[in-house]
Amino acid sequence: MPETTVVVGGGVIGLSVAWRLAARQRVTLLDPAPEAAASWVAGGMLAPVTEAWPGEERLLDLGMAALDRWPEFAADLGVELGTGGTVAVAFDSADAGQQDTQAEFLAARGRAVRRLTSRELRALEPALSPKIRSGLSVPGDLAVDNRELLRRLRSACGTRGVTVDPRPADEVRPGAVRLADGTEIGCDTAVITAGAWSGALHPALAGLIRPVKGEILRLRPRSGEPPVRHTVRALVESRPVYLVPRANGEIVLGATQYEAGFDTEVTVGGVRDLLADAERVLPGLAEYALLECAAGLRAGSRDNLPLVGELEPGVLVAAGHHRNGLLLAPVTADTVYALATATPAPQPTTR
Ligand code: GLY
Repeated sequence: MPETTVVVGGGVIGLSVAWRLAARQRVTLLDPAPEAAASWVAGGMLAPVTEAWPGEERLLDLGMAALDRWPEFAADLGVELGTGGTVAVAFDSADAGQQDTQAEFLAARGRAVRRLTSRELRALEPALSPKIRSGLSVPGDLAVDNRELLRRLRSACGTRGVTVDPRPADEVRPGAVRLADGTEIGCDTAVITAGAWSGALHPALAGLIRPVKGEILRLRPRSGEPPVRHTVRALVESRPVYLVPRANGEIVLGATQYEAGFDTEVTVGGVRDLLADAERVLPGLAEYALLECAAGLRAGSRDNLPLVGELEPGVLVAAGHHRNGLLLAPVTADTVYALATATPAPQPTTR
């Protein structure tokens, strides 16, 4: 008889873990609210270099290892990757100062990025404003349509025989997952992958994971706006904003970041700030159609690194991926697979 595993939470981490484990085990995935997952709301940047700041060396190294895994992961799932890379934009001289700090940190870690003048930036990305002070080019970054990825993962889980159960879980302990309706599902292994909601499922996680709200917009070009070819990450008077283009010209514009408990309402102030900052970077944005405003909850950890490991025999956790759930999904799934099957963890490649 194959071993049985219950995966608690069906965002990108839970789906990736379930899919990997289902190659060898009987897997049930508890997924009460697929569209509540942070990975459904996300932008889809796979951009470790511009995500890490001084003090986050381990996050940078983990992110780079994850980026290296992405082409194979995407090919296995049949999902397209955006390969245009990132341009990081500093709007004014204070923003340029912050960006210099980031570039120096990256150079010290052997991740050299190319500095660009305003003119060079616009040669790369003509839709950008001439008022932008300076920038960086990060050619190796990737991007993925997060919703397409989640659809592909669900379908791949189905092909491997994963049972999807929409009931929410209340508690995870060795040998069983207790559901909110009072019933229990027995298993050899349970894996907690419930993102921001993980902290309530096992006492060892209490206080370790907190919700970090993010609002995001989806935009569609209407007529003749120059296409955006790169992921654009901007600092505008110290506020970060990013624009992630999709192959069909749509743009995901994100994201606010603040702590408001489990509140997922989109606020007027959040939308106003995102649009105002993004329009200063990309003046043609006002002509786009506004398709969607959404909010999600990142799973924040104390040090911005994910918690992946064994809580007690038979109970694993893979949560706390904060801003990097999509990026880190392939390496997290590999690590959980190794733990759950007692096989060696793959060694990260380096470049
Ligand atoms: N990964 C970007 C964000 O969390 O907004």
